[in-house]
Amino acid sequence: MKRGLFITLEGGEGAGKSTAMQVVGDWLSKRGHDVVVTREPGGTPAAERIRELLLDPETGSLHALSELLLMFAARNENLATLIRPALARGQAVISDRFTDASHAYQGGGRELGPEVVEALAELVHGDLQPDLTLLLDVPVALGLERIAARGGEPDRMEQNRPDFLERVRQAYLDRARREPDRFAVIDATQPIERVADEIRRVLEARL
Ligand code: TMP
Repeated sequence: MKRGLFITLEGGEGAGKSTAMQVVGDWLSKRGHDVVVTREPGGTPAAERIRELLLDPETGSLHALSELLLMFAARNENLATLIRPALARGQAVISDRFTDASHAYQGGGRELGPEVVEALAELVHGDLQPDLTLLLDVPVALGLERIAARGGEPDRMEQNRPDFLERVRQAYLDRARREPDRFAVIDATQPIERVADEIRRVLEARL
């Protein structure tokens, strides 16, 4: 059986990924795909527990490499338990973040660089890459405004400073420039309906 489509969504804080997930899911379902949705870190009971550890402010600071290894431990669980079996059944998988987030946040934000992230990616899923990655791009200041408007306590990663988030954004854009066939960069400063239209246009053109 042909493996299902693997689509990932990426972006900085406050980029509007949740709405985008919905748009991609609806588009695929309407075209007859059996859609499975997941998120990273998380997606399985064990990986969700790793997520709690990573995002709980109580965890405090983590060594950058420990943070990266935990992201990949969660990813390995998600791949082994949920993503690979679903793709093998021919289902379409949409993941709210994947390895590009490790490049952006740990490689860029935490300044670990690309090599260590690439080495772990090769080990954990070398043979499997997303078919399409939508990068929802917003300037850091606007993303932070949106998070503030949402209210509530910021999680451990949202507590990072604007210079960290600027490195995250640039690392994402850099990856998109290097792999234009896999990435589509969406201007997520637009109103939600315009972002949704742009996503649907990309899906029509690329899939
Ligand atoms: P979110 O998916 O709800 O935005 O929260 C996940 C947070 O974890 C977000 O701040 C990005 C961060 N993250 C990493 O730092 N590295 C990773 O590899 C992944 C998947 C997420």
